[in-house]
Amino acid sequence: MEFLVKSGSPEKQRVGCVVVGIFERRKPSPQAQALDAASGGLIGSVMRRGDMDGKLGQTTFLHGLDDLFCDRILLVGCGRERDFDERAYRKACVAAARELDKVGGVDAAHYLTELNVKGRDDVRWQVKQAALATREVFYRFEACKGQDYKKYTRKLSRLVFQVPRRSDLPPGETGIREADAIGHGVDFAKELGNLPGNICTPSYLADQAAELSKRLPAVKTKVLEEDEMRKLGMNALLAVSAGSEQPAKLIVMEYNNAPANTKPTVLVGKGITFDSGGISIKPAATMDEMKFDMCGAASVFGTLQAAAELELPINLVGIVASSENLPDGKAIKPGDIVTTMSGQTVEILNTDAEGRLVLCDTLTYVERTYKPEYVVDIATLTGACVIALGSHAAALYSNNNRLRRSLRDAGNAIGDRAWPMPLWEDYQSQLDSNFADFANVGGREAGSVTAACFLHRFARDLRWAHLDIAGVAWNSGKQKGATGRPVGLLTQFLIDSVAG
Ligand code: BES
Ligand code: MN
Ligand code: ZN
Repeated sequence: MEFLVKSGSPEKQRVGCVVVGIFERRKPSPQAQALDAASGGLIGSVMRRGDMDGKLGQTTFLHGLDDLFCDRILLVGCGRERDFDERAYRKACVAAARELDKVGGVDAAHYLTELNVKGRDDVRWQVKQAALATREVFYRFEACKGQDYKKYTRKLSRLVFQVPRRSDLPPGETGIREADAIGHGVDFAKELGNLPGNICTPSYLADQAAELSKRLPAVKTKVLEEDEMRKLGMNALLAVSAGSEQPAKLIVMEYNNAPANTKPTVLVGKGITFDSGGISIKPAATMDEMKFDMCGAASVFGTLQAAAELELPINLVGIVASSENLPDGKAIKPGDIVTTMSGQTVEILNTDAEGRLVLCDTLTYVERTYKPEYVVDIATLTGACVIALGSHAAALYSNNNRLRRSLRDAGNAIGDRAWPMPLWEDYQSQLDSNFADFANVGGREAGSVTAACFLHRFARDLRWAHLDIAGVAWNSGKQKGATGRPVGLLTQFLIDSVAG
């Protein structure tokens, strides 16, 4: 799918489909009015017949347009004009994309990008959102279908986002460029997330890093094996992989495109390729969804790829801590105590709280290996986070106000939101242990917070943030599948770090 930006009137477009907005109470947008005038009142008569009221998300095709050069018109309901905000705009773009997915023509001219969005007088933003929303709808996971499966083919191959003025073309093109890179990153993250645990193992992820380096030579990869991790004293990470036949991998990806003395930003991803809970085994229902427990890692892959594709002038490190969490004769048991790489000892009261165990040693590794500007870890860390925030926002924890604000702003701008949560010391006592320095679980209360507090004990000397993405990384039910979040938030954060 090729996205372009152009400027020109809707009635002159020689394309398969022209997409225009209709506001509620049958109020045509200026672009719909232009088509109406050029077609002898066609749109007005369709609305009078009651086929299009302008309700947000409503759609209708018009065919047989003798007075126009286009083969069809797609009318998209945009809701009440005075309520046409970011959310309504995205919804209208999604509705348009669902119809364009089925359309017969090879190209289309999209005029929703010319509408005024409340609080967003910004062409770059508007084009970028439209392109991202379209990609979102067009994604299909087909990697695991059998030989008789016919791959989905879409006729549409060129989508032109229209902008009001010629001077809007450069910002529009920037919007496309960013949406393409972010979209590729999101698709990459979805693809990795959706692969099953028997294919997407820690070794598979390590191979993906090597592949990424091949695709984008600016990304350099190295993989630490279990014996090297043992030498470094990463006993918490190794405790998790002890119950699995698959060896753990610590995957390090470096993208350096700023002067060597520029401190890097480090992204750390939880890469549990299947989380059975270990000896503290999970219930059977929906356990299959624990193949998604590497979505934090997937977002690190996707973001690194996007940053490299955009050739951002930054130094960026992506580290993926990857393991399975399975029960076995060699598996860790509740009550076991390990000495982490930091020297702090942890009583593992629940083997299902494994994410923090692989991440804590990785944070220590980051602190000792790099002098980072910022460290952000991304993890499907707790079921409690899903209870707290549902699927709309990731939980955002940070010991640095600037970093917290930047991440939150980036998420708001791209529509991949994170919401701040407390890291107060008051919660730390929930981790008290009678036998070790502290335990790996803190009881039922505030489960997402105490998990973050556990990690904080390994990040005190870093400018650090933690994103608990348990609620946003995948959809359950009929729409089951990885979302590619928070590649958008992270990439926007990196883009902003250059501009600001
Ligand atoms: N990967 C899970 C968290 C999770 C569970 C994400 C369900 C999304 C949906 C994590 O490893 C885990 O099992 N966490 C435990 C922690 C508990 C034992 C303190 C949880 O949330 O139950
Ligand atoms: Mn778990
Ligand atoms: Zn887990």
